[in-house]
Amino acid sequence: NTIPQMRGLPIAFHGTMIHTLDVAQLEILQDCLLIVDDEGKIEKLYKDVPDEKVNDFITEAGHTPDVFPLKYLKRGEFLIPGFIDTHHHAPQWAQRGMGRDQTLLDWLNNVTFAHERKFENVEYARKMYTACVQAGIKQGVTTASYYGSVHVEATKILAEICLEQNQRALVGKCNMNRSSPEWYQDASAEESLRHTKELVAHVRRIDSEGKLVKPILTPRFAITCDDKLLSGLGDIVKQEAPNTIHVQTHFNEAADEMEFTRQLYPQFKHEADLYDEFGLLGPNTILAHSIFLEEEEMDRIKSKGCGIAHCPISTATLGEFMMAPIREYLRRGIKVGLGTDVGGGFSSSMLEIMRHAFIISKARETMTKGADPALKLHEAFFLATLGGAQVCGLEDKVGNFVEGKEFDALEIHAIGPDPYSSFGVMSPIEEEDSIQVIFEKFLMTGDDRNIAKVYVAGRSLKETVP
Ligand code: GUN
Ligand code: FE
Repeated sequence: NTIPQMRGLPIAFHGTMIHTLDVAQLEILQDCLLIVDDEGKIEKLYKDVPDEKVNDFITEAGHTPDVFPLKYLKRGEFLIPGFIDTHHHAPQWAQRGMGRDQTLLDWLNNVTFAHERKFENVEYARKMYTACVQAGIKQGVTTASYYGSVHVEATKILAEICLEQNQRALVGKCNMNRSSPEWYQDASAEESLRHTKELVAHVRRIDSEGKLVKPILTPRFAITCDDKLLSGLGDIVKQEAPNTIHVQTHFNEAADEMEFTRQLYPQFKHEADLYDEFGLLGPNTILAHSIFLEEEEMDRIKSKGCGIAHCPISTATLGEFMMAPIREYLRRGIKVGLGTDVGGGFSSSMLEIMRHAFIISKARETMTKGADPALKLHEAFFLATLGGAQVCGLEDKVGNFVEGKEFDALEIHAIGPDPYSSFGVMSPIEEEDSIQVIFEKFLMTGDDRNIAKVYVAGRSLKETVP
């Protein structure tokens, strides 16, 4: 059987692995032996295995040490779980960070819709989406939740590219049948729903077991969807087996957005009420931004099991400076992950997103006079990995190195060719630096040049990306 060999599987790693067990628990495992089976799943995770015992444990796992592929991680090299981008607009790849001086609704009308319109051209879509997905892989994004454009054909292509490039993804066709120029919207609620069902069927056909790519319902937000469209999407959720279809939307993001939503839907108390009434809140729902929530809304999304995509760069730099109360959400046990919100956010790097999450949380700590303490290093790392997996409904599959999960991982190389260099611009590692210090230096100053390898389901992807 040549296939497992082509994929480089099975494989074992010996050395340092860093992951979280929950928001409070970071594990830095040194001398760890991790065995990936030929399906790309974590078969065994043995802790505290000195070099001379490695072969014994490989034998214990039922393998033959002399022929089993084994990779030793040196000092300055370690494995972390792949990053999970819980909120990304793939058709905004070419407009990241544009239009910082505008409010959200102006930015959509003046910058964004014209960009997304280009994806009616499927050749353009193929080129741009390939660039976007490959850049994500390069930067260690092993899972992403994508908004496509309004176009069903281009969105099918996005799903195909994720599958071809082996990036794990949720892919949705954007629903919008009002409040945008007529050259950029669905012709009707019926057409929007028909195209959505077509996309769902297509994604399930190309990845029939949902191994990597799954469909997600993507009402852009209530402003661009009339009640016929929202209730039609709610019907799709109801027709599915419980909690099988994913949903994503923008939620309480900005003052102008909230005001316009109230005008269009005066019958609802707040946005939680609105989306709940249409049957769109559940454990597989991703609510992007979530800046201005009422008490009742927090209770509702907690009881429904929804997750929040925290996008600190986007909300701090698009329109007004806005800060989501992440500490409050964590205190309440609401699921939270991080999102780039490309192109409302200017960066596609999850390392940068973590750093901006720190900045926002520092501002909030000051503003609340210490009542909402800033994020700790391990908490931001949790949000970028396991927290994101929970938000995407994938916590049984990915997010950390638990036996039975898929091996989605990044191999980090912190030390460069000479003692005072690192790969890229990361702070040099000094002789006395502990693994805790090396890890902190990577999170705070590393970049994609320190991400030497990217594995999804055990497959090494980075070398296949230009
Ligand atoms: N609300 C509706 N559409 C969008 C979008 O494309 N980006 C952001 N950040 N918010 C939105
Ligand atoms: Fe967004």
